[in-house]
Amino acid sequence: MKPLNALFISMSAALLFGASAAFAIQSNDVGHVKLPSMKPGQYDHQAPTLADIQNDKDLHPELRKVILKGRDLFMNTQQLRGKYVFNDMNCKSCHMGEGRMAWSGPVWPAATTLPDFRGKNGHVNSLEERIAGCFSYSMNGTPPEYGSDTMLSLVAYHQYMAKGAKLYDRNIGGRGFSSLGNEMPKDISFTQGAVVYAHNCAVCHGPNGEGKKVNGEVVFPPLWGDASYNWGAGLSRVFTAASFIKNNMPLGQPGRLTDKEAWDVAYFINAQERPQDPRYTGDAKETREKYLNFHKATLYGTEINGKVLGQHDNTGEKPFLKPEVLKPRTFTEGTPASSPQ
Ligand code: HEC
Ligand code: HEC
Repeated sequence: MKPLNALFISMSAALLFGASAAFAIQSNDVGHVKLPSMKPGQYDHQAPTLADIQNDKDLHPELRKVILKGRDLFMNTQQLRGKYVFNDMNCKSCHMGEGRMAWSGPVWPAATTLPDFRGKNGHVNSLEERIAGCFSYSMNGTPPEYGSDTMLSLVAYHQYMAKGAKLYDRNIGGRGFSSLGNEMPKDISFTQGAVVYAHNCAVCHGPNGEGKKVNGEVVFPPLWGDASYNWGAGLSRVFTAASFIKNNMPLGQPGRLTDKEAWDVAYFINAQERPQDPRYTGDAKETREKYLNFHKATLYGTEINGKVLGQHDNTGEKPFLKPEVLKPRTFTEGTPASSPQ
């Protein structure tokens, strides 16, 4: 932890000096943090903490062990590097606060609302398959086998986070990231995004979005390039990135950027190259059209600054293109004609 703290202090100092006068720097004091409020009638849930897992007397020691392993994998997913993970991400890089925080993709709603139909792949998904999706895209990897120790422990962690929450109540406040809506503003700007990036982000994420490692450990995750999320990841959608950034970045100062700044910087980041979408057909424009439901919100297969984004064979560090989970996996039985009374 030492290098991180030291870095953080020097980074914060650099941030103060680097930021333009237009941005009033606020303290990390939670009282100053501006997060969207829940709408009336929306359901919230306080997910258990590490102490809760450790002290819950109802947990069998064997189960506690499995949940703690799941948490450990969630926080330090790099231990699966080269096996299931081929970039610099940990699950908590995007699901901040141990996957417990509102507006940072809290993971417990997945445990209370799955199995569910998912537009991205057009069939009913289990919690395992949902987790597998983040391995295939966000981690630029391949998912652990269904039913394996790794998968079981991650599922157990997700499910324990939902302890006491209502099942299949979908009106959840703070779910996902998308508080800014999914309409890209007409005046969204790459060049202004570059300015926002230089002033607010480069200090930690690097001038080329490469992130920062100290003694081989990822301190600040990359935002583009080979070690980042791939072109099929949820965050490659501009609206998802804009909302994540608005409510979580710069680190410790959620809500500091204006909506416009968040949109511009999300556009700038997602107009940079990253590993290939595992659904690639060999042609980025064609892949975009085939998965337009998803890619209409990304810049993949479009021309930016004279180049078609994603038109390449680069899969980053990953030695293959398609992970196992992309195999069609549809519920094939029909509706039961009658149910036994
Ligand atoms: C690069 C960012 C990123 C990383 C890293 C990441 N995720 Fe995600 N995750 C997302 C985004 C974005 C979504 C929402 C996707 C959507 O809107 O379709 C999501 C959604 C989820 C959900 C569903 C949440 C819900 O509300 O239903 C679960 C569960 C999940 N991720 C688990 C994981 C796990 C486990 C890992 C690590 C193996 C991981 N994620 C790594 C970005 C990330
Ligand atoms: C003080 C350092 C710091 C600053 C400044 C900062 N970030 Fe981050 N950022 C982080 C850290 C650390 C994480 C991972 C969170 C974790 O692991 O707990 C992160 C995660 C992210 C992620 C998700 C993970 C990934 O790598 O894709 C995005 C996107 C992101 N930041 C964008 C930005 C943007 C845009 C800005 C500027 C508006 C910014 N950050 C400013 C430290 C910082």
